[in-house]
Amino acid sequence: MNQRGKAYIDQLEKEHKLSVDEYLYLLKNRTGELMDYAAKKAVEVRQRYYGNAVFTRGLIEFTNYCKNNCFYCGIRRGNATAQRYRLTEDEILRSTEEGYSLGFRTFVLQGGEDPYFTDEKICSLIRKIKEQHSDVAITLSIGEKEHTSYQAYFDAGAERYLLRHETANEALYQKLHPKEMSWKHRMDCLRDLREIGYQVGAGFMVESPYQTLEDLALELKFVQEFRPDMCGIGPFITHEQTPFRDKKSGSCEMTCFLLSLIRLIYPKILLPATTALGTIHPRGRELGIQSGANVVMPNLSPVGVRKQYELYDNKICTGEESAQCRGCLENRMKSIGYELVIDRGDRFGWNRCEG
Ligand code: SAM
Ligand code: FES
Repeated sequence: MNQRGKAYIDQLEKEHKLSVDEYLYLLKNRTGELMDYAAKKAVEVRQRYYGNAVFTRGLIEFTNYCKNNCFYCGIRRGNATAQRYRLTEDEILRSTEEGYSLGFRTFVLQGGEDPYFTDEKICSLIRKIKEQHSDVAITLSIGEKEHTSYQAYFDAGAERYLLRHETANEALYQKLHPKEMSWKHRMDCLRDLREIGYQVGAGFMVESPYQTLEDLALELKFVQEFRPDMCGIGPFITHEQTPFRDKKSGSCEMTCFLLSLIRLIYPKILLPATTALGTIHPRGRELGIQSGANVVMPNLSPVGVRKQYELYDNKICTGEESAQCRGCLENRMKSIGYELVIDRGDRFGWNRCEG
């Protein structure tokens, strides 16, 4: 095995930090052996806090209208071929009700940035879900908002927010987004969310167009410094109706290696094995868990609209009912010795004195 690489992984396991150059060395010299070693260490570390439990979150993709035009994304406003939909409040509440009976104790409400869903509508929705079941955690993933909006959602009962930073490199951000979008604003949003008291999820795509290994080393440094409670990473996957239609998709191997390194950087972090990972490889989610991830997010949206929330081509789980999807994941996790648990799935130490 590459001894220098192994030494860096051992150091990461002990100290939870490396320099950007050291991360870059690992990424440049990633052999199968080194990646296996990182995965083994990552699983050991995760085991300490989470055992064999895999947390599950019910994902409800409630609108695919979006005012943004990110170059990589299938639901960008410039995609005139997308069939747009919005779920009604009743439809969303039916999904959470069904989810609860299937054992979900946390829901992620995700959507494009859709001005139809005003702060009042979002707050009303949060309150109604909490009235249905007071023991569930609500996560929002509805993009960039102002501080007052984030505060209002929090006051209404939302406790977690997922906002991938997309990249820690402003210059790369500009290559992935149109001019009107601002990297600084996105970063300010993450800071606002943390300051308000949310459990915050950041994240990035792996091997997106123009991304270099230097950029990925910066992502690892960002995770080390910002320490998000959750970090969503998945391979970039081409969508044929976007400006990146001719670009290459990212790989399962690189995503899994990054999952292992992130686990070693922040052992208590919540780390999903994403749908994108399951799309790029038939056993992607299992491989993600075996690399250090500890969360899966099955789809709870009504089957009728699932295909329309198409961020990238060939997205999985668009034809399955929620119960089938949960059952399928349960079996997949069992097959590798893990267990889907009925739990809110907070980050270890959240609101406890361990910090
Ligand atoms: N609108 C919200 C936001 O901006 O945070 C949430 C929805 S957005 C579609 C969720 C995430 O999907 C993005 O942060 C991005 O990283 C990911 N995504 C979009 N297009 C993708 C693609 N082609 N391949 C992989 N991931 C993609
Ligand atoms: Fe959705 Fe397998 S996880 S069908």
